[in-house]
Amino acid sequence: MANWTANDIPDQTGKVIVITGANSGLGYETALALARKNAHVVMTSRSIQKGEKARADILKQVPNATIDVMQLDLANLASVREFAQAFNSRYDRLDQLYNNAGVMAVPQSQTADGFEMQFGTNHLGHFALTGLLLPKLLSTPNSRVVSVSSGAHRTVSGINFDDLMSEKSYSRYVAYGQSKLANILFANELNRLLVANGSSTRSMAAHPGLSNTNLQSNTADASGNVFERALYSVLMPVMSQSQAMGALPQLYAGTSPQAEGGKYYGPSFMSMRGYPKEEKPTDAALNERDAARLWAISADLTGVTYDELQPAMVAV
Ligand SMILES: NC(=O)c1ccc[n+]([C@@H]2O[C@H](COP(=O)([O-])OP(=O)(O)OC[C@H]3O[C@@H](n4cnc5c(N)ncnc54)[C@H](OP(=O)(O)O)[C@@H]3O)[C@@H](O)[C@H]2O)c1
Repeated sequence: MANWTANDIPDQTGKVIVITGANSGLGYETALALARKNAHVVMTSRSIQKGEKARADILKQVPNATIDVMQLDLANLASVREFAQAFNSRYDRLDQLYNNAGVMAVPQSQTADGFEMQFGTNHLGHFALTGLLLPKLLSTPNSRVVSVSSGAHRTVSGINFDDLMSEKSYSRYVAYGQSKLANILFANELNRLLVANGSSTRSMAAHPGLSNTNLQSNTADASGNVFERALYSVLMPVMSQSQAMGALPQLYAGTSPQAEGGKYYGPSFMSMRGYPKEEKPTDAALNERDAARLWAISADLTGVTYDELQPAMVAV
């Protein structure tokens, strides 16, 4: 995969692709790159206006792109269910699902369902979404689910099952690290279940290194912390790569014939920038017991139970 770029994405004609948080940053770049390769792209956005603006920007560059903009707020399970219902009735296949949307280090707050905002949006929202789209993924040969994690998963030593919603103590960046660790545990558990059930669908994780998107400025806006804003304004121009480069690991995971289920892809240079390469996540991210435990809790919290992947189905 040396120096793999978006030009290496195989032709995507006939494929239907869903990207969460597609109006901005890495999600936008993922949509643009896949539209250039003739995919039918479903750009989800929590704001239809922002989604339509992003769609118009892509159409300026790829005039014959076929793009659908659909509303999806991952911080609200009712919205996730509404989106899934609309998608499932509109489309008869789903080739790639990019669980990309995310918030970082926001002040303590809750989703519509009362979950801690980062765990609820970044992990539980995507857990519910993937489960509700699973029948379409399973009936589409060789489909893929790509979960976008972060180097921040390395900042926590494991999932804090005693305080999943950070009710006892809240640290903005620890909660972000927890949610990004949950992304990899989810991706790996999903892949194990897919393999065990004999499905051709695969699940992989990716991260963009440090990429110049709206993530950091949104974080500083939300916290109102002038030190944080100053740090990002110094750090980002020096250390970060473009959002187009940052999107490559997830595009590689979603489209390369060489990408494998259960793997984690990130930028080659110090995990910060460069072309995609396979990377080893932390031992905590590879902990199968924690992955299974998190899965069971997530199913309980969201009410999305992945019935198609129950072990009982394997014997049938
Ligand atoms: N940029 C980096 O350096 C970096 C590093 C590591 C990991 N990541 C990960 O990369 C992913 C993409 O982030 P980005 O860097 O591209 O940041 P971004 O430009 O801020 O894009 C984030 C996207 O997620 C959407 N989003 C936020 N909350 C949502 C919700 N409740 N429901 C639906 N969509 C929601 C945002 O919508 P709005 O536009 O409406 O806010 C936006 O479209 C995230 O998962 C992030 O954790 C980024």
